[in-house]
Amino acid sequence: MARYLVSGGAGYVGSHLVLALLDAGHQVVVADDLSTGHRAAVPAAAELAFGTLADRRFLSEVFAAWKFDAVFHCAALSLVGESMKDPFRYIRDNVATSINLAEAAVKGGCRKFVLSSTAAVFGIPEIVPIAEDAPTAPINPYGESKLMMERALSWAEGAYGLRSASLRYFNAAGADPAGRAGEHHDPETHLIPRAIAATLGTGEPVSIFGTDYPTKDGTAVRDYVHVMDLAAAHMAVLPLLDTHSVRYNLGNGEGHTVREVLSAIETVSGRKVPHSVGPRRAGDPPVLVASSERFRAETGWTPRYPSITEIVRTAWAWHEKHPYGYGRRLVAVA
Ligand SMILES: NC(=O)c1ccc[n+]([C@@H]2O[C@H](COP(=O)([O-])OP(=O)(O)OC[C@H]3O[C@@H](n4cnc5c(N)ncnc54)[C@H](O)[C@@H]3O)[C@@H](O)[C@H]2O)c1
Repeated sequence: MARYLVSGGAGYVGSHLVLALLDAGHQVVVADDLSTGHRAAVPAAAELAFGTLADRRFLSEVFAAWKFDAVFHCAALSLVGESMKDPFRYIRDNVATSINLAEAAVKGGCRKFVLSSTAAVFGIPEIVPIAEDAPTAPINPYGESKLMMERALSWAEGAYGLRSASLRYFNAAGADPAGRAGEHHDPETHLIPRAIAATLGTGEPVSIFGTDYPTKDGTAVRDYVHVMDLAAAHMAVLPLLDTHSVRYNLGNGEGHTVREVLSAIETVSGRKVPHSVGPRRAGDPPVLVASSERFRAETGWTPRYPSITEIVRTAWAWHEKHPYGYGRRLVAVA
């Protein structure tokens, strides 16, 4: 049994990772300020250290209270549009909080650090599927902030012995198949929960941005990877950190168009997805699909839920049971 720190463990990806770590018999401490996460998403079996990664004293208290075998750093600001409006905030917050956490890990004697990175480090790729060694060229401050942290970590192994894995997720999707957790962002920007909310009547009709892309049905193609497969990938990468630092893409390897996603929701729910059709959005590439070949070969990881129908089925089940997610936020979290 090991003990792990999960920053952002009250958020979407983090809460599923916490469940997977607990299921595997490990101890978990969540460090989260609940700015976008939910208290109810942290299972009772995990400890919650409530505080912000911007506060270095908070972090030194966390590392003084527990010894960790590895840190999984999921906490971040992650809205692309917001990052375009306030790049300084995104770059300052994401980079500074990540450095604070990595530094606290080093001081606390922890030498393994897993960063939630993103496909946004690639910008608009020239070749799809995007290889793990494809050139990086972010087109928004969110992607830039993650790339800056990847680069900072690349200096940390030589200087401090901190080995790191930068995992560039594509579109995290789905929910815990056992129904213990799901996706709840506010605002929600992701297609699957938005389309499900539209279908359940708790959200507005979903917009399809662009129907004239050079894809099979004219709508944009994205790579949806099940959030529990992401969680499993975090555990699969750890043994590699015994010897070296790594960077990988985490995707399903297969892309799906917006219309295919809506049709999967219709199949699973037996209802029509209310939607409208509009023009392309600036900066949206037609196809974003990952090649995770190197990750698969080097860790043996393979997605358990590769089918878009199965991904949507787990998401639908959670949203149908929790139409308002973890609940509406009526008071500020203090
Ligand atoms: N969801 C995706 O599809 C996706 C894709 C690519 C990369 N990522 C990355 O994965 C990570 C998790 O994404 P998510 O969708 O779960 O986001 P999320 O907003 O659901 O979760 C983020 C969590 O971090 C916490 N947090 C944020 N800032 C904090 C701070 N300064 N101190 C302490 N806690 C803080 C929030 O309260 C929340 O619980 C992020 O780093 C994101 O950039 C997500």
